[in-house]
Amino acid sequence: SEFGKFGPLVGAIDEGTSSARFIIFKANSSEVVAVHQKELEQHFPQEGWVEQDPLQILDVVTTCIEKALEQLISLGGSPKDIITVGVTNQRETTIVWDKSTGKPLHNAIVWLDMRTTSTIDKLLDSVPNKTRNTNYLKPLCGLPLSPYFSAVKLRWLSDKVNIINKAMKKGTCYFGTVDTWIIWNLTGGPNGGKHVTDVTNASRTMLMNIETLKWDPLLLKFFEVPKLVLPEIKSSSEIYGYIANGPLKGIPVSGCLGDQQAALVGQMCMQKGQAKATYGTGCFVLYNTGEMRVNSSRGLLTTVAYQLGNKSPPVYALEGSVAVAGAALSWLKDNIGLLESAKKSQELAEKATENGSVVFVPAFSGLYAPYWRQDARGVICGITEDTNSNHIVKAALEAVCFQVRDILDAMNQDCGIPLQLLKVDGGMTSNALMMQLQADLIGINVIKAGFTESTALGAALVAYWGVDGTNQCAPIPMTSGITYSPRISEDERDMRYKQWKMAVDRSLGWDQ
Ligand code: G3P
Repeated sequence: SEFGKFGPLVGAIDEGTSSARFIIFKANSSEVVAVHQKELEQHFPQEGWVEQDPLQILDVVTTCIEKALEQLISLGGSPKDIITVGVTNQRETTIVWDKSTGKPLHNAIVWLDMRTTSTIDKLLDSVPNKTRNTNYLKPLCGLPLSPYFSAVKLRWLSDKVNIINKAMKKGTCYFGTVDTWIIWNLTGGPNGGKHVTDVTNASRTMLMNIETLKWDPLLLKFFEVPKLVLPEIKSSSEIYGYIANGPLKGIPVSGCLGDQQAALVGQMCMQKGQAKATYGTGCFVLYNTGEMRVNSSRGLLTTVAYQLGNKSPPVYALEGSVAVAGAALSWLKDNIGLLESAKKSQELAEKATENGSVVFVPAFSGLYAPYWRQDARGVICGITEDTNSNHIVKAALEAVCFQVRDILDAMNQDCGIPLQLLKVDGGMTSNALMMQLQADLIGINVIKAGFTESTALGAALVAYWGVDGTNQCAPIPMTSGITYSPRISEDERDMRYKQWKMAVDRSLGWDQ
């Protein structure tokens, strides 16, 4: 055959909040041939601000590609066997650069960043009839006004950074989320790079109309964004361009998905009614609603799950986003010194004598779904003389589980059909105690995927479907995982959940 010992291969660039990786898969399969991962730096110039260097993002991605290719070659494979590349990324993170030099005009403002709370205040003033309704734009874009989304970050950049303000008016800069930044650079940068994004990433900007899948004139006007700085919106699975330089020169880029949407695909949740939760820095639950857009009246986001080729209809999802999941363990480790490593959390939580009533609400950057309260801050309640550090570690794990319960309750009510099982992936799922707690606290089975790199897999699959021409999503066989079944009684579950709700009440109203 024309291919070497591994057959045709597909590369996936997975650029997350805390690290990037490049994974080389056998085409249309979850079998990994080579992989390289590298950490990324975050900068915190002021309280609540989170930035990354766009050039470092590119650098780290390039290193991952080079190292994974070295590995492939040492295993007897050849980079020539890579037929295409897919991109998946941390969503909402906002980058603006000069389109003729390719130089970033500011650091990337990361999705978690809270600097735009005052921008939101100002924007709420411009909501008609003085209602200050945070859901004013939701019918158009599926999202509430929150510092989380890109348009608000872009508005801040144009308000506060003079060169960006000028460049936006003159049309000499480009805006992009991380997918756009990576693809533009891969396909040539200032020398013919493709300025594109996919529908899933665009659906997180607050600038795309969730029904027409086009930039919406009303939204652009509301945020004062000129259309000429925006990328072209494409489907998630088609050829966007060809890699211009380096060892992958000439290979197409044919898949693009926001990382949470990629995990949904990688978990094979491609049927209406299927849902997954990914536990990373944050935790994100996505529920596939098929070709139907469900408008949540309970604080969930309506988002695009994927669109396989520009002739296919989009598939939608309801999303519940939790800002702080693994980040709570990092905080216990780095700021408080209660933990040596995130891995130790299971061992310590297991030592917590019976269920104390300690509840930890890690609302460091406000509360996302379903509350959307930027005035929330972290609290720990229910402390007694017997409380020790183990209880607090366990409460940090439970906090994520309770937030998933909050979200599933909202999803069940919005969709009318209660979820029967939850597929899970991401770093924290290696904590078996936490996964048991999750099943206990939501009262349904929790299934941990046998294959852990769901996000990269999703990107590799859409990239493959984008070049093989059929754009058919044929589910691939997956190794089976571990099932956690609920072990506590309904009464106990309700009692614990009531305590969580009481603690959430106490976390609200702190930034006044
Ligand atoms: O919306 C933010 C999300 O895409 C970030 O994901 O995995 O980098 O925490 P992650």
